Amino acid sequence: MPKKILVCVAWPYANGPRHIGHVAGFGVPSDIFARYHRLAGNDVLMVSGTDEHGTPITVQAEKEGVSPQVLADRYNQVIGEDLANLGLSYDLFTRTTTRNHYRVVQDIFLGLYRQGHILKQTAMGAFTPAGRTLPDRYIEGTCPHCGATDARGDQCDACGKQLDPAELINPRSKTDGSAPVFRETEHFFLNLPAFIGRLKDWLGAQGHWRSNVRAFSLKLVDDLRPRAITRDMEWGVPIPLPEYQERTDKRVYVWFDAVIGYLSATVEWAAFTGRPEAWRDWWQNKDVEHYYFMGKDNIVFHTVIWPSILMGYGQGEQGLGGGRPLNIPHDVVSSEFLTMEGKKFSSSRGVVIYVRDVLSRHDPDALRYFLTIAGPENQDTDFTWAEFVRRNNDELVANWGNLVNRVLSIAHKHFGRVPEPGEQTPQDQAVLAEVEKGFETVGGLIAKAQFKAALGEAMRLASQVNLYISEQQPWRLVKTPETMPRAATVLFTAMTAIAHLKILLLPFLPFSSQRLHDMLGGTGSIRGEGRFQEVQEEGGPAGPPAAHRVLTGDWSAAQGLWKPQRLTPGAVLPPPAALFRKLEDSVVAEELARLSG
Ligand code: MF3
Ligand code: ZN
Repeated sequence: MPKKILVCVAWPYANGPRHIGHVAGFGVPSDIFARYHRLAGNDVLMVSGTDEHGTPITVQAEKEGVSPQVLADRYNQVIGEDLANLGLSYDLFTRTTTRNHYRVVQDIFLGLYRQGHILKQTAMGAFTPAGRTLPDRYIEGTCPHCGATDARGDQCDACGKQLDPAELINPRSKTDGSAPVFRETEHFFLNLPAFIGRLKDWLGAQGHWRSNVRAFSLKLVDDLRPRAITRDMEWGVPIPLPEYQERTDKRVYVWFDAVIGYLSATVEWAAFTGRPEAWRDWWQNKDVEHYYFMGKDNIVFHTVIWPSILMGYGQGEQGLGGGRPLNIPHDVVSSEFLTMEGKKFSSSRGVVIYVRDVLSRHDPDALRYFLTIAGPENQDTDFTWAEFVRRNNDELVANWGNLVNRVLSIAHKHFGRVPEPGEQTPQDQAVLAEVEKGFETVGGLIAKAQFKAALGEAMRLASQVNLYISEQQPWRLVKTPETMPRAATVLFTAMTAIAHLKILLLPFLPFSSQRLHDMLGGTGSIRGEGRFQEVQEEGGPAGPPAAHRVLTGDWSAAQGLWKPQRLTPGAVLPPPAALFRKLEDSVVAEELARLSG
C-alpha cells in the first residue's frame, strides 16, 4: 500500500542568499527523503517557500535601502534559483507574502482566538534606543538559570530554558551591543501552558524521532509560558481582529505566520493544481505522515509551538478546518550546525560559502555528496575545502565514478551495445544479489532519516562491484575471441549492478544518476525537472502583491523505480563520459583565498 508523505521543509528567510550550512540543514536531507519515497512508490508532496516577514527582513531591507517587499522579492528569486540548481524537488516552493498565506494565517489566528487559546496581555517589550522593536533572538545576555553568558532573548542554548529578554542579566543588542530599552506593550499570547499535558503525552510517544530532538523538546515543555505571537512592527500579517484592522503598528509574529506556511502552501498547491479541496487529503487524513526538516535552531517551533497551534485550532469549525482536525507532525528531523574552516558561519565576519558560489564552480552532486556523507546529521561538523576535494576525488570519483567509467568504456568500445550475457557464475550472481539487497538496506536507512549511513552503504556496494570487476578483469577477457562471451557476461553483470546503483544513488545524486541513465541507453527523465511558474491571486486580504512566482516541478517519472533494474541486451550504448570531475589540489588554496578575500 503506497503511503502519503508530506515533506515539510523549513522556510529560508528571504534576507540574503543561502549558504551551504542552510542547505545542509533543511535542503539536501529533505530532498533525499522526498526523492526516495517517490521512487519507493509513495505519494509525496514537498512544500516550502521563503520566510519573508519579521525583523530578519526589515533589518536587512534597511541596510540595503529598499522596502521589505522589494528585499523579499529579490531574495525569493535568488534563493529559489539556488535551490532549483541544487536539484531540490519541491512540489511547491512559494513565499509568505501571498494573499493565500495571509488568509490562512488569519484563519488560524481567529480559530485559536475564538477558542480562548490566544490571550491579550501586557509585556515588557525590548526596543532599541531609537524606538525600534528588538527581536528576542537579537538580544544576548547572561542566563538567569545557568549563568551562560551567551543566552539569547528567547532561549538559552546552554541549559535549554525558554527565556524572556527581560530576564537576561546584562542584556545587549547583538547588532551593535547597545543595551535594550524595555517598556510596556500590549500583545497577543499563545497560551502554551494549556497544551503541556497533551504535548508531553505526544512527545513521550514519539520513539521514532532522533533522540536529541525529543529529549530537547520534552525538556522545554515543563516550563512553557504564554508566548507572544504579535510584535510592534509594520511589516507582517495584520492581526485579524476588528479593532486592529486600521492599525499598522502591530503585526503577527514571523514565527507564528511562518510555521502556518506548511499548511498554506498545501492549500496553494491544491488551488494551483485545479483541485482546491485536495489539501484536505494531506492535512485531514490520519494516514498521511508529516515529516519536517530543519536546522536545530528551529526545533522548538516545530515540536512545541506548531503542534500547539494545530492542537488548539482543533477542528476549526468556523474556518478552514471545517470540522475536522489537522495532522500534527509525524517526525521532526533536525540537523546540527555546520561550521566553516573551524568557525561558525557568519556573513558579517565573512566566514560564509554561498550555495550559488559553490554551484558556479562545482557540480551540484559533488556538494550534495559532501553535505550528506560529511554533513552535520548528528553532530556539529566542520566544512573544509580540503575535505571537500579529498572526498570528491577519493570517494565519488575514485569509487563510483571510476566503476562506471571502467565498465562503460570497455562495453562501449568492444560491444557498442548492452552485451548479450551467457550463463552467470556464482560470483556474478553473488555480486548482483548483494547490490539488490541495497533496495532494502539503503531504502530502510533513508526512511529512518539516516542519510549518512544510507549513502555510506550505497557507496560500499559500489566498491563491492569494483572488487568484482578487479577480480574478473573484463579488460583481459576482451583481448581474445575465446573469452569474449565471458567478457559479455561480466560486463552485463557489472552494468546491471551499476543500473541498480543508479537508482540507489538517485536520491542523493540526481544529476549524475540521470547522466548515467542516458549512458546506459535509457530514455526519459528519471531525475524530474523543476520549473518556475507565475501565480495570479484574485481577491484576498490586502497587502501582498497579486502575482508571485513559485518553483514547482514534475517528479512523476521517478515514481516506483526503487527496485532492481533490467537492461536490454543489444540496446545501443552512447559514448560514455565521466560522471564526476576530479578536482585539482590547487582548488583548496583557490577556495580558501576566496573565503578570506
Ligand atoms: N526562516 C527560519 C530560519 O531560517 C525558518 C522558518 S521554518 C518555518 O531559521 F517554516 F517555520 F517557517
Ligand atoms: Zn541557561
